[in-house]
Amino acid sequence: MRIFKKATDLTYFLQKRRTAKKVIGFVPTMGALHMGHIGLITRAKEESSLVVSSIFVNPTQFNDPKDFEKYPNTLASDIDKLEAADCDILFIPSVAEIYPDGAAGSVRYDLGMLETILDGHYRPGHFQGVCQVVDRLFKIVQPHQVYFGQKDYQQCMMIKKLLSILRLDIRMVICPTQREATGLAMSSRNMRLSDADKIKATAIYTELNDISNAIKKGETDLVVLKQKAVNALNSQGFKTDYVEIAHADTLQLLDKWDGTSPIVTLAAAFLNGVRLIDNVIIA
Ligand code: PAF
Repeated sequence: MRIFKKATDLTYFLQKRRTAKKVIGFVPTMGALHMGHIGLITRAKEESSLVVSSIFVNPTQFNDPKDFEKYPNTLASDIDKLEAADCDILFIPSVAEIYPDGAAGSVRYDLGMLETILDGHYRPGHFQGVCQVVDRLFKIVQPHQVYFGQKDYQQCMMIKKLLSILRLDIRMVICPTQREATGLAMSSRNMRLSDADKIKATAIYTELNDISNAIKKGETDLVVLKQKAVNALNSQGFKTDYVEIAHADTLQLLDKWDGTSPIVTLAAAFLNGVRLIDNVIIA
């Protein structure tokens, strides 16, 4: 695996591969890699002739500075995992490489109502930061296809929106959430959970599945289902930001289901200071 630290070096290297008709697949990450990330690399390897990954803990997407400080840094083992997965290229830029003019002056994107709901509401500025870094990374790598995990459902919608705002002809592949045997969605943040909390945290997936099952059995009053899940999580020691049910394509939040639209249920909750998110596509 070749490692690049300078944006211009990577762009130059990839330009030559693009001219040689290589299909470039890209997996951006913030490091602290787990099997979910490796699944994205594996899928990218199957469909691309050259796979690029990046590790950059993007300061502009952390609305809470403490969360940024606590974000796990496991670079040496990340490199080992990427080598083992046969990733071709790793980009590890500095903040100055990504934001040469400073992060504060970066452009703003018109993300519309998507940015005001769910994580957009609870983490103001988060999706602007995600779009800033992804925009910059896409300009540096110029991939043919990019790979993201369904666990970050709203982020996936945001990246789709960004691709349309920037009019970029990049194929976006959303890969299913990888889970522990317990059902817990794999996440870099799980590293900050104790063993006992890793078990407890599976309650989020259980509640989302309960919602999904109730809807499949014919329940259409979504308000009751959402409140029941919030109460169940809070009574088990979570501090729940939201449990919501939304149109799977537009993320419009729903209180009633029409019985035909594709829907997704999403949750975000803190467990002992660690913020966890998950979602289940229902129909
Ligand atoms: O999902 C992530 O790890 C990050 O939000 C991303 C897409 C790499 C941007 O920093």
